[in-house]
Amino acid sequence: MTSSNLPSPVRFLTGITTTGTPHLGNYVGSVRHSVRFSRRPDVQSFYFLADYHALIKVDDPARIQRSTLEIAATWLACGLDPERVVFYRQSDIPEIPELTWFLTCVTGKGILNRAHAYKASVDKNVAKGEDPDADVSAGLFMYPVLMGADILLFNAHKVPVGRDQVQHIEMARDMAQRFNHLYGEHFTLPEAEIDDAVATLPGLDGRKMSKSYDNTIPLFTPRSQLQKLIGGIVTDSRAPGEPKDTEGSALFQIYRAFADAEETAALQQAYADGIAWGDAKQVVFERIDREIAPMRAHYEALLDDPAQIERILLAGAEKARALSRPFIGRLRHAVGLRKLEAPASAVVAKSAKLARPSFKQYREADGRFYFKLLDANGALLLQSRAFASPQEAGRAIGALQQHPQEALATLAEHLEPVDNEGLRAAQAALEMLAPAASGG
Ligand code: TRP
Repeated sequence: MTSSNLPSPVRFLTGITTTGTPHLGNYVGSVRHSVRFSRRPDVQSFYFLADYHALIKVDDPARIQRSTLEIAATWLACGLDPERVVFYRQSDIPEIPELTWFLTCVTGKGILNRAHAYKASVDKNVAKGEDPDADVSAGLFMYPVLMGADILLFNAHKVPVGRDQVQHIEMARDMAQRFNHLYGEHFTLPEAEIDDAVATLPGLDGRKMSKSYDNTIPLFTPRSQLQKLIGGIVTDSRAPGEPKDTEGSALFQIYRAFADAEETAALQQAYADGIAWGDAKQVVFERIDREIAPMRAHYEALLDDPAQIERILLAGAEKARALSRPFIGRLRHAVGLRKLEAPASAVVAKSAKLARPSFKQYREADGRFYFKLLDANGALLLQSRAFASPQEAGRAIGALQQHPQEALATLAEHLEPVDNEGLRAAQAALEMLAPAASGG
């Protein structure tokens, strides 16, 4: 993420629908990846519990509440630091449903007709000879718009998701583009971020691990239960001593998602040497449990203290709303929901792109790390002095973006001197980049 065409910090955002109990597939495909990224100094992360999305699929209130608790506890147990990241519950952010409506009004109905989840329901109905929209709620139809609002409200650059969600990110991009075209450059165009090595994990039956196939291994199931479930992963009927195929082996794929390259090569060799399935399963179980056990203890402690989780989520919502409240105000103004005495500027920025300043991070021949801040035309505003590591440079950039005025003062000795006029220009540019103002 230090590639020079992305701003720093890069904003990552991801949500998990609160309909079930987190399983190994969620961990490998999303949570682990996101938590790892959230620790990077050049990354600003947003994590949320998508409980409005849950209402589309589940009408059991107790299940929604329980799942919200379990998922929040899971992320915290997996190392998400709520001080570092913005961790919140979707339904605590009223700007999300408000933005959903704005986006609804710029999204073609035909686009939504083509969304995979909706189309799958329609195809099923048609195949059964029923009305195409039988049992399809308008909520399911609108799912991509709500998701677009989640993403665009915080101007996320990157959205870590499974392959099945890529279409939704593309739709969010389309919504952003359409809105920007009509009302000026307000939204960043998000991109899906897929970790190809481990994006999907097979389940007990070899199909993708998913609640809907009922083939999951709950992430924090007790140790004995974990062993039992792994024992139930589908294998072929080869006897001990017979060489086994790693290709198409769900057990092997699951192992690979946890093991390093060396461990993976060792199991591959064991397969070739004819390891018994029971022994292979024991290897896989021990490897997974080694990673999970410490987090499991933390998880259990968190589940015993829901009030603490509630406090963490409300504090997260406050952080999120410090950004979303002013931003939605700007969007309301942009679409014409304005105070009546405000001057009626016509379409302000129909295509006038709001040019933005940018940071460039680089390494010099001296082997040390630098950055500069350029204005929208590429003119130099700030030049850093040397940093020992890219992380330090990234942190300085982060500070400048978060708190321009303070950081310009505290970082003075890390920056080449500028005169007062230069300082004012730099500060104005940084304020355009500050998260609350970030628009595209
Ligand atoms: N649709 C996502 C899923 O089922 C959950 C989700 C809702 C989400 N809003 C989001 C993911 C925004 C990323 C960004 O997995």
